[in-house]
Amino acid sequence: MQIRTVGVVGAGQMGNGIAHVFALAGYDVLLTDVSAEALDAARATIEKNLERQVSRGKVNGDDRDAALARIRTTMTLADLGPSDLIIEAATERETVKQAIFEDLGPHLGPDTILASNTSSISITRLASRTDRPERFMGVHFMNPVPVMQLVELIRGIATSPETYATLHELVEKIGKTASSSEDFPAFIVNRILIPMINEAIYTLYEGVGNVASIDRALKLGANHPMGPLELADFIGLDTCLAIMNVLHDGLADTKYRPCPLLVKYVEAGWLGRKTRRGFYDYT
Ligand code: CAA
Repeated sequence: MQIRTVGVVGAGQMGNGIAHVFALAGYDVLLTDVSAEALDAARATIEKNLERQVSRGKVNGDDRDAALARIRTTMTLADLGPSDLIIEAATERETVKQAIFEDLGPHLGPDTILASNTSSISITRLASRTDRPERFMGVHFMNPVPVMQLVELIRGIATSPETYATLHELVEKIGKTASSSEDFPAFIVNRILIPMINEAIYTLYEGVGNVASIDRALKLGANHPMGPLELADFIGLDTCLAIMNVLHDGLADTKYRPCPLLVKYVEAGWLGRKTRRGFYDYT
């Protein structure tokens, strides 16, 4: 199947990045969110990130302008219905994602493929709530989307080989590299990455190190581009906690117990960069 139009649900850091890369690769993008402010902020972020790519010589001015012209926004979810592909990139809560797919249901074109950018939730379960589990897949981008090379592809139990082939080819067409994961809690990247971050938070909680020493240790001692606490703030502490809970519930193993300090920070509303406070202060 040929994909020409891509609908993106959710204009947060993942959604605006996904809109950015598809528009830059020549696809018409329709981006939706529940608030006009979120859509305005997303457009401003996309402009800023494209400008950054222009200033580094990665993108030329004409391509930047063409990409921006290909992105339309709407607050009406139903407008996305006729898209060839719809990627849901809403908050990492199963009830929210299910509600979006249910609301989209009556408006979908017969051949529309549905995808979720979920970083941990069962694709099989999300797909089972739609009328097209064979045309449903997990397509998991990494943050920051314009920079990170990987896209995880996750087949639900009913995903058809045609849907997988279409989306695998699409990932290559937008210049990314696909990696397949089976449909188990948090897939591959987050099964490994988020427990590492959780362990870093335990290291802080138990006083083994402080924020600076823990991050310095992994940056200089293991060549990570960001320390684990800096990365947690970058991902969002609420997202890290949501993924740990999916691992803990789904695999029923105490080794995935979320660190109490992570829980406390989320309860305080200290979610990292997006709230200007997490393990670091961004004010
Ligand atoms: N849009 C476009 N370009 C961007 C960008 C953005 N949002 N952010 C950074 N860049 C570009 C810069 O322009 C720069 O480009 P050049 O190499 O062409 O010069 C490059 O990225 C590096 O940026 P900087 O020099 O500003 O900063 P840096 O060297 O410190 O790199 C980083 C920033 C790329 C974010 C790097 O710190 C990094 O790789 N961090 C780790 C990110 C990571 O692990 N992401 C995965 C998170 S987990 C996830 O996403 C899964 C999940 O479900 C939770």
